Amino acid sequence: MGYNILSKIIEFTDSEEPLEKRLENVGALLLNFFAFDQCAVYLLDREERKLNLAVAIGNKLGCQQEYNKDEGLPGLAMKHGKPIFATHSQPNKELWRGVFDQGALGFATVICCPVKDDIFYGILYLKSREKKSISPKKKKLLDVIALQLSTAIKNYECIINLTHTNTKMKDMQARLIHAEKLLALGEMAATLTHEIRNPLMSIGGFAKRLHQQLNPDSSQFMYANRIIKGVERLEKLMDGIVHFSKKDGCEFSTEDINNIIEDAALFFEDDFKRHNITVVRDVALNLPKIEADRQQLRLVFNNLMANAIQAMANGGTLTIQTRHKDNWIVTEVCDTGGGIDPKIMGNIFNPFYTTKETGTGLGLAITHTIITNHKGIIEVNNKMGVGVTFVIKLPVATICEQLAVNSEQLKK
Ligand SMILES: Nc1ncnc2c1ncn2[C@@H]1O[C@H](COP(=O)(O)OP(=O)(O)O)[C@@H](O)[C@H]1O
Ligand SMILES: [Mg+2]
Repeated sequence: MGYNILSKIIEFTDSEEPLEKRLENVGALLLNFFAFDQCAVYLLDREERKLNLAVAIGNKLGCQQEYNKDEGLPGLAMKHGKPIFATHSQPNKELWRGVFDQGALGFATVICCPVKDDIFYGILYLKSREKKSISPKKKKLLDVIALQLSTAIKNYECIINLTHTNTKMKDMQARLIHAEKLLALGEMAATLTHEIRNPLMSIGGFAKRLHQQLNPDSSQFMYANRIIKGVERLEKLMDGIVHFSKKDGCEFSTEDINNIIEDAALFFEDDFKRHNITVVRDVALNLPKIEADRQQLRLVFNNLMANAIQAMANGGTLTIQTRHKDNWIVTEVCDTGGGIDPKIMGNIFNPFYTTKETGTGLGLAITHTIITNHKGIIEVNNKMGVGVTFVIKLPVATICEQLAVNSEQLKK
């Protein structure tokens, strides 16, 4: 009989089903086998140091959602690392070695069995309204079952951890590939720019000379004008490429993010008014400093604000939020410009990708490169039809760097 239940339990615990389902199957089997009324499995939350109810089968009377680590019979079983068999001749009077357990009220016999190997995972809690005697053989069997459960939980935790690590690795790999792609494109673009710039300057210069000499009513005047405008646009593109491919030359200093953002916002003040854009500032005061190249970070916020203004040409709200979370300074730039079509989301950080007639497609590529150079992270929360939020996380400057600034400020 013992062998039968064990092989069934191994089959349940080794299945591919979610952990809860496996525990449920085991619980139902135990309930039947021991002829008890309630079987519950509590799992240990190591951070909170609490036992949380994972599954409960049978009569749910008095089944608590959680136990603190010192509470009731589960707490006692956890403390001693041994099963507790509590039998009472009088139901409703649950006192066991001075331990009161609300969850055992109304039951005559309870078993609280730790689920553990070298570490503790949880508690298997069986309750019966009738008084039951449990043979030494059954006690032994329960020990083996609890050990089998601990193996199943351990394997499950391992798989969860592995999946988590795997996802993180894949994410990092994708970021690396993206960064390499940007680098290769940047190098190629820099070479091309170098070759294009000089002849472009000549074209522009000569077109301007023609423009001055031609009769404004002539069609040639209009053609020269078109050449000038085209050249200006190409020059803007070349400037962007040069900036994008500039690898070194970062000048890091200890900076206050709110101050940099305010500088960038000031630059666009007229544009905000012209396009009827309300700017909401939700910035945290006294934020820790960051190590940053001030000019480059300004360019990041210029790019994001320029995109937001272009998306809200007919008005809207730009919300800028800053906060301190863990070791990051988090900045959110949120607009109400209708968001980005999910189909193009994968392209927006690629250099030269633009959906605008006169766009260069370099703003977000440059932004991405700068944030990566600052050991930061940029994320996009897109709500199609509503707007888009760019989230930038930059590492807080180390304590040494912060102290250096404070002592500089004291000297002044
Ligand atoms: N705030 C925004 N709202 C909607 N679309 C955006 C926003 N920011 C960026 N985009 C999309 O991403 C593309 C790339 O942006 P960017 O690299 O700055 O280049 P550009 O602004 O020159 O087009 C834009 O053409 C646009 O389609
Ligand atoms: Mg742009």
